[in-house]
Amino acid sequence: MSKSPEKASRAMRGLALAALVAGGAVLAGGALLPAPTQATETTGSVTDGAFPELPTGLGLGRPASAEEIAGWNIDVRPDGLGLPEGRGTVLEGEEVYVMQCAVCHGDFGEGAGRWPMLAGGYETLDTHDPMKTVGSYWPYASTLIDYIYRAMPYGNAQSLSPDELYAVSAYVLYLNDVILDEDFELSHENYAEIELENVANFFPDDREVAEKHFWREPCMTNCAEGQAEILMRARALDVTPEPGQGPTVD
Ligand code: HEC
Repeated sequence: MSKSPEKASRAMRGLALAALVAGGAVLAGGALLPAPTQATETTGSVTDGAFPELPTGLGLGRPASAEEIAGWNIDVRPDGLGLPEGRGTVLEGEEVYVMQCAVCHGDFGEGAGRWPMLAGGYETLDTHDPMKTVGSYWPYASTLIDYIYRAMPYGNAQSLSPDELYAVSAYVLYLNDVILDEDFELSHENYAEIELENVANFFPDDREVAEKHFWREPCMTNCAEGQAEILMRARALDVTPEPGQGPTVD
């Protein structure tokens, strides 16, 4: 999210106000109830984390509190925005991994049973049986931090501390031979040094330029020369033509 919590909640208050005004107009038009004389804005501060007072009028909902917005705003971008502050080494990560991840993902990221594998699969992407793993497929180390915090360990998401998060991410990168030194410490400061092999194969959708020559503007007026001629009425049209009698397609 690019909006600051404050801006976002201000925008939401704006929306709530607009809804109140619109509701008033409809009711007044139908002459069922007097329109509220004024739309009262919420008075509580939305930045102090406390729930603001309910608005009057229709009284539906309330703006999200800054804490609630912060709770949802956990994405980590490749440019580093959203990274939590923290650090952890490969060796520290091994401990977290063995305790909290290996039961599903296997001791070496090979995947236990039918749980997903996290390591290996290099040079398989263009084969009949591609194996997409963090090492073979993922473009950015930041995605690992985002994903693990957001979703893992499965069933207990968002339970890792930032330091455990960096440590276990370092360990998964170690399992993928991206990090080679087990004393390497991954942190919010050096995550950008990590380069994943497949990054070059992720690029912005450029079809608008690269495939432009396939496109033509749809014709909206005078698309065929001469007068239009009615050949058949829909009700008489046999949708499935007899063999050999349908239109020819070249
Ligand atoms: C109970 C089993 C379980 C545990 C424990 C678990 N995971 Fe997962 N993990 C999964 C499943 C299932 C998926 C696939 C989820 C999906 O695709 O929706 C997954 C997916 C992942 C992925 C994405 C793989 C990919 O290529 O899409 C990563 C990375 C990951 N887990 C890391 C971890 C880490 C790190 C831990 C420990 C902190 C952990 N997992 C613990 C079951 C588990």
